[in-house]
Amino acid sequence: MKPRDREEELRQAGLDFSSKPHRPSGFQRRAGTPPAPGELAGAEFLRFVGEIDDLEDLERFALECSRCHLRSGCKGVVFGEGSPRAQIAFVGEAPGADEDRLGRPFVGRAGKLLDRIIDACGLLRDEVYITNIVKCRPAANRTPTEEERNYCIPYLHAQMRLVRPGVLVSLGAAATQGLIRPDAKITRMRGTWQEWRGIKVMPTFHPAALLRDPRKRPPVWEDMKSVLEELGLRGPA
Ligand code: URA
Repeated sequence: MKPRDREEELRQAGLDFSSKPHRPSGFQRRAGTPPAPGELAGAEFLRFVGEIDDLEDLERFALECSRCHLRSGCKGVVFGEGSPRAQIAFVGEAPGADEDRLGRPFVGRAGKLLDRIIDACGLLRDEVYITNIVKCRPAANRTPTEEERNYCIPYLHAQMRLVRPGVLVSLGAAATQGLIRPDAKITRMRGTWQEWRGIKVMPTFHPAALLRDPRKRPPVWEDMKSVLEELGLRGPA
């Protein structure tokens, strides 16, 4: 039998014939269409997310999420973006109206200020990773509840497991409370090194707080200088 006929025979028998070595990710390795997050019960969901070993697969999965009620009140899931090899990951609270409309984190007024902070560090936005502790916009921009954070945090666990940044910068009280301690006070904790799942964390003020109170800008710059120093980065020339 000619090799072509053999390929055809295998194909007709329903066998995936491929001469190229292919290493499917955990997401694709499972038979059939991957489940949507809402179809998996708690422990099964955690196991599934914990096995995804590709950031794009994780994003595809997360974009289908409707595990908590927030999804029915927003336009879409804002997963996060940036370099999969980022040395710095910025983690905010939750998407606002602009982020919900565009499906990208930190693109409104606070986002423009975050861009300036990144620029002042001598980095490009594409070189860092930016996400939120909660991926769907709470109605009227309220602070997400602890329950909402708990539903969503497995996605952040998986994002940070895959990106492995050298430093995570938690922006504001809600992110810091979700990552470090529910009773964390950002005014006390900012500028002090913390740890979360083996990653060094620098809590600092949220850019929206800097818009309201410009006196918070110098401390944020001090915190960012500590981050750059920790990573052996020199900042702007
Ligand atoms: N505030 C946040 O915490 N996250 C965003 O993405 C935008 C504003």
